[in-house]
Amino acid sequence: WQFYAPLIRQINQLKREKDAVILAHNYQTPQIYHGVADVVGDSLQLAIEATKVSQSTIIQCGVHFMAETSKLLNPEKTVLIPDARAGCSLASSITAEDVMAMREQYPGVPVVTYVNTSAEVKAVTDICCTSSNALDIVEGLDSDTVMMIPDQYLAQNTAKKTKKKIITWAGACEVHETFTAGDIAELREAYPGAKIIAHPECPTDVIDACDFSGSTSGMINWVKTKKPKNVVMVTECSMSDNVAAETPGVQFLKGCNICPHMKRINLENILWSLHTGTEEVTVDPAIAEKARGAVERMIEFGK
Ligand code: 13P
Ligand code: SF4
Repeated sequence: WQFYAPLIRQINQLKREKDAVILAHNYQTPQIYHGVADVVGDSLQLAIEATKVSQSTIIQCGVHFMAETSKLLNPEKTVLIPDARAGCSLASSITAEDVMAMREQYPGVPVVTYVNTSAEVKAVTDICCTSSNALDIVEGLDSDTVMMIPDQYLAQNTAKKTKKKIITWAGACEVHETFTAGDIAELREAYPGAKIIAHPECPTDVIDACDFSGSTSGMINWVKTKKPKNVVMVTECSMSDNVAAETPGVQFLKGCNICPHMKRINLENILWSLHTGTEEVTVDPAIAEKARGAVERMIEFGK
């Protein structure tokens, strides 16, 4: 923290001078999460908060689709991402053409799209979802069959909780798909009595073997309310670092992976972003209008 303090100070001063607000995902490092972020949350919370900010510039500390969502909801504001290469294996697993081909194959079946997708994909879908509202959105649709794209595991984990038929796409999160049920069994053996919680982007047998599964904020809230003595967060590594600062008495045991995309964002490039106004996120207005509809329907759904 001694090393980060001067950078944190400069960022916090400059963001006020530049009328900027910093929205940071739960996977950002503690120095971003606790040091410079004005708002932290899971992808649903960040989308909702993006509709409420008053500042003229949004600095999105997260991956590209999150910045794009902020831009969709704030077409008149400047949205900056400190490193535009911060992608997501789910977002790159599907194109708008793929969705149109699915629509042709399953006429009349509504398409629920995970927010971890490009604006082009959102523009050709009916409604977005995140890991925290996926089941409610699927259940709320007036159809017995639903396409749920692109994360096969979020779709399969949702399918286990609903009577509806879910048609999936073969996308996966490169960070969560590598966890196995064998890993959970090894963790149980290594840490008897420890609670093990996981993100629903993990394969179904991993989720079945865990004590709880939820969105990133769902997992944080679970730890804050249950206050387990020992816990493993089967997700991105910054999660336990961030929540540890707020939950003294809980011991966090390692069983995590790093998201290389999330880790492209750091204090240095946030400062650079504020100084130079880069990288600005733009979306073609014709695509933005349709994509915004899918995101807004999701936000409205939760009200
Ligand atoms: P959350 O919506 O749970 O924050 O998930 C976003 C994400 O990218 C998880 O890998
Ligand atoms: Fe995408 Fe997975 Fe990284 Fe989340 S953790 S941003 S889903 S690659």
